[in-house]
Amino acid sequence: MPYSVADCGLPHQLDDFHELENFDCGRNFMTSFLQKKAKAYWKQRLCVTHVFTPLDNPSFVAGYFTLSADSIQIDISMGKTERRVKTKRLGMPHEKRLLHTYPAVKLGMLAKNTAFVEKGFGRDMIKAIKSIVLNDSGIYCCRYIIIDAINDPGIIKFYLDNGFEFLYESEEDEKVAMNDPDELTTRYMLYNLGAITD
Ligand SMILES: CC(C)(COP(=O)(O)OP(=O)(O)OC[C@H]1O[C@@H](n2cnc3c(N)ncnc32)[C@H](O)[C@@H]1OP(=O)(O)O)[C@@H](O)C(=O)NCCC(=O)NCCS
Repeated sequence: MPYSVADCGLPHQLDDFHELENFDCGRNFMTSFLQKKAKAYWKQRLCVTHVFTPLDNPSFVAGYFTLSADSIQIDISMGKTERRVKTKRLGMPHEKRLLHTYPAVKLGMLAKNTAFVEKGFGRDMIKAIKSIVLNDSGIYCCRYIIIDAINDPGIIKFYLDNGFEFLYESEEDEKVAMNDPDELTTRYMLYNLGAITD
């Protein structure tokens, strides 16, 4: 019987007792990141890796994700009007559209163990991640979850279906902003955690 996120409970930080050799997400660099690099990245404080493990099999990794502190940076060489137009996409009120940076957390990797988990596992991992980041926002304030989504129609659809939006309206805009005329291998996307309204 394949696992769901509900079978796993809250994610845990990657530890030595987690078995990594049976993990396969179908995308080599992400499988290999978990198996060979994740601990070294943590030691250098570059990102933290969390794993979903079934309550009845706690060493088995059903899915993983990485988080790190980041920000959305605004090109301050743009004129004020252009900056206000760009930052309107961030859902900021008019008076907050001229900041240089906006606090964010980067979802660097997100992957499930292909053979052993149910459909909907990805969606449920995203739900759990949103709630973790929102809960921690009282410690280090953060407004957005950002990702460099692999520029593949299925992956982009997955993030759009889960409430993420493009930071740049079009691929052309993104190429200009990145100063890179080549085909984009990733798209910059964000999830807006929203303002505090009470
Ligand atoms: C991305 C990932 C975590 C999604 O998990 P999941 O359990 O498949 O996601 P869900 O079941 O919640 O959603 C599935 C939907 O996502 C989309 N999708 C996700 N990955 C896809 C892929 N590789 N190709 C095509 N569509 C994909 C499909 O639109 C699918 O929609 P459907 O139900 O209409 O078929 C998982 O596919 C994975 O681990 N992929 C390998 C690693 C990876 O590419 N991570 C993303 C890096 S940006």
